[in-house]
Amino acid sequence: MVTLNVNGKDHALDIPDDMPILWAVRDVIGLTGTKFGCGKALCGACTVHLDGNPIRSCVTPVSAAAGKKITTIEAIGDTPEGRKVQQAWLALEVVQCGYCQSGQVMAASALLKSTPNPTDQDIDQAMAGNICRCGTYPRIRAAIKQAAN
Ligand code: FES
Repeated sequence: MVTLNVNGKDHALDIPDDMPILWAVRDVIGLTGTKFGCGKALCGACTVHLDGNPIRSCVTPVSAAAGKKITTIEAIGDTPEGRKVQQAWLALEVVQCGYCQSGQVMAASALLKSTPNPTDQDIDQAMAGNICRCGTYPRIRAAIKQAAN
């Protein structure tokens, strides 16, 4: 039995210790906002926060979340940074196909929490691991700057 705290709620789950957090969150708990892209920590689509830090949930086992708090896209809007990021994303119409965007929002929210006024370099560094095949990068950068103001 594994207990996962997701978005402030404890879930006692009968799952193996080595199950990636991604599948526990999506398939067992039913929160499908977090996406599967590559499964190899290469694309960022599966980004969630573990105690406020962005992680690749596709390669992080549930055992790594023992005693920690997982936050997903479904609840990031409850944090000050997440709310500002989501508002800026809507205002600047960042999204194209949308598939990578929950991961982008999670990465951007973590960046603003650690670096409230990021430079272009900070943004590029923090967001480099989040791939967008539609190429929404200029709008992502603009939205992060707007959210930071
Ligand atoms: Fe986890 Fe691509 S699905 S990084």
